[in-house]
Amino acid sequence: MIGDRLTQAMNDQIKHELESYYIYLSMVSWLHDRNLDGMAHWMRCQAHEEMIHAMKFFDHIIDRGGKAVLQDLKQLKTDWVSVEEVFNDAYAHEQFITSKINELTTIAREEKDYASEPMLAWFSDEQVEEEATTGKIAAELEMVGKDKTGLLMLDRELGQRVFPAGSPLDPVAYNAK
Ligand code: FEO
Repeated sequence: MIGDRLTQAMNDQIKHELESYYIYLSMVSWLHDRNLDGMAHWMRCQAHEEMIHAMKFFDHIIDRGGKAVLQDLKQLKTDWVSVEEVFNDAYAHEQFITSKINELTTIAREEKDYASEPMLAWFSDEQVEEEATTGKIAAELEMVGKDKTGLLMLDRELGQRVFPAGSPLDPVAYNAK
């Protein structure tokens, strides 16, 4: 059975992951509004992953005999001055999430909750990947600068990202129903 301290911290993490989902979905809208549909698609895939992350914590708490409690989400940012700011924010947000996963790992160890360690190790690996991808796109946007051709090329490239099978955020999936 999961202890109260780790349950509380994981419930907080559900909120952080759902806020990630919500922030990225807001970025999707902003990017579509600038006709950067490839980047919007990439960010939609990212939003999907955040919903999955929230559900992993949700189910872990329940599977371990705890109670998942949903919390209010914080006020959302809905506007950015540039596409560079969008991806810089995404990169900074992933660094914040990494710090939260590190805190959870510390709590799990202090509480001797060994059953949570494999899952938290998965999240640590995931954060390495998510920081790498968002940081790389932010760096590429800085290189591209005001070059519209470079921006369009990057938009096309990011539009190639593949949705996980059956994603509820994939228009192909929900329009087929
Ligand atoms: Fe769920 Fe992007 O961290």
